[in-house]
Amino acid sequence: MDTHGGHVTPVPAPSLDALWSILPENAAIDDATPEVLSIGGVTVTELAEQYGTPLYVYDEVGLRRQIRRFTEGLRERWPNSEVLFASKSFPAVGMYRLAQEEGLSVDVAGGGELQMALAAGVDPARIHMHGNAKTDAELAMALEAGIDTIIVDNADELDRLERLLPQHTGARASMPQQLLLRVIPGVAAKTHASQATGGAESKFGLPLDQAAEAIARMRAHPLMDFAGVHLHIGSQILDVAQFAEAVSKLSNVTDDVSGGTAFRTYDVGGGLGVKYTTTDDAPSVDAYLDAIVAAAREHLHPDARLLIEPGRSLVARAGVTLYRVTSVKRTGRTFVAVDGGLADQMDAALTGQRFEAVLANRLADDWSESVQLVGRQCESGDLLVDGAPMPEANVGDLVVLATTGAYGYTLANNYNGALKPAIVFVGDGGSRLVARRETYADLLATHEPSIGSTV
Ligand SMILES: Cc1ncc(COP(=O)(O)O)c(C=O)c1O
Repeated sequence: MDTHGGHVTPVPAPSLDALWSILPENAAIDDATPEVLSIGGVTVTELAEQYGTPLYVYDEVGLRRQIRRFTEGLRERWPNSEVLFASKSFPAVGMYRLAQEEGLSVDVAGGGELQMALAAGVDPARIHMHGNAKTDAELAMALEAGIDTIIVDNADELDRLERLLPQHTGARASMPQQLLLRVIPGVAAKTHASQATGGAESKFGLPLDQAAEAIARMRAHPLMDFAGVHLHIGSQILDVAQFAEAVSKLSNVTDDVSGGTAFRTYDVGGGLGVKYTTTDDAPSVDAYLDAIVAAAREHLHPDARLLIEPGRSLVARAGVTLYRVTSVKRTGRTFVAVDGGLADQMDAALTGQRFEAVLANRLADDWSESVQLVGRQCESGDLLVDGAPMPEANVGDLVVLATTGAYGYTLANNYNGALKPAIVFVGDGGSRLVARRETYADLLATHEPSIGSTV
């Protein structure tokens, strides 16, 4: 956006009608209080009163519906397939449980996510583990738990597995561990640099010319069951042709490594982008699946197992973040400050992602101002929305930041001693707490060795 002489050039206000396309599927104007937004049949004012703010709110019915678009859509197109929830996008125990209920498998990136998945009761036979720097402890945890698949990133990890596989005493001890190898397909995804993972310079996986040696090692080891290859080209990708291009590269691996013999499994990762603003254009789940499956039909063996790993596109739209306005300052620019910020919503600063904000208790008012919607962390970069159209906000108003269901909770931190917000699922007029808000006691708990001690 442009600024002239310190004044913000207004961004045209989206119409309320346009906003429905980025708010949760079950967001609506409340019947009884038509100036207030409701989600899943619960008003934001009720949610703020009951649970406090900032608050991560998820439309559970919309979330389940979006999951089924993926599971049913992929099964119809390619029956021998599996949809893995990329749990880094929303690592909450309640979400792992919901994912399992909806028939998703899950991928975890490391020991912490594995612990959460197991605590949620996810069947280890539906868990896959990622990571470019897995430790001995994490691999041992995965083997003890008997997870389905480890996605091997590099040769050092194979050294570790060679040491650990004969030692573990888990339920599947002495049985071969299913492994995939992550390869770098050499597709430079059109997205923010921090979200591109499939180009030649990627830190994840092995280049195709090094894959053969790693695969030969796995095939030769009696406790390793090499099933196939994995790739992931990046996140927030809006051009489905890039996914098709990545799938096409897999036929090169097959040709080079196996003399054209197909692998059992191909995992083509996640990365489908979502619509964050009313003017964004994002592909539908159907368009994405059509592109991937058409490429798979062209390049992969028809009997191969096809895996996808969506994260953002499963959870982003179902979730919003609810804040309360704590101050309004007019200094040439209008700063509307809320009770959260960079500590619970890092994506704006990390990737430059633009979000849309709604003054959610003032839906009937004209959007007459263009404001800097800022957080409370001590960084000028703590800017949630640059030039957000909005009615003239007052202290105590409620702000909904739309499409923040993915990577918001993931990246939450304690900057300035911020407490991680609670997570609430709403639906059919009710709400349930999925994760409680952190307390100051939680914040101090890990510092217990220093509390009361003298220097
Ligand atoms: C290996 C892997 N799979 C899946 C995903 C999910 O990506 P997205 O949330 O963009 O769908 C990621 C995220 O970066 C990833 O690293």
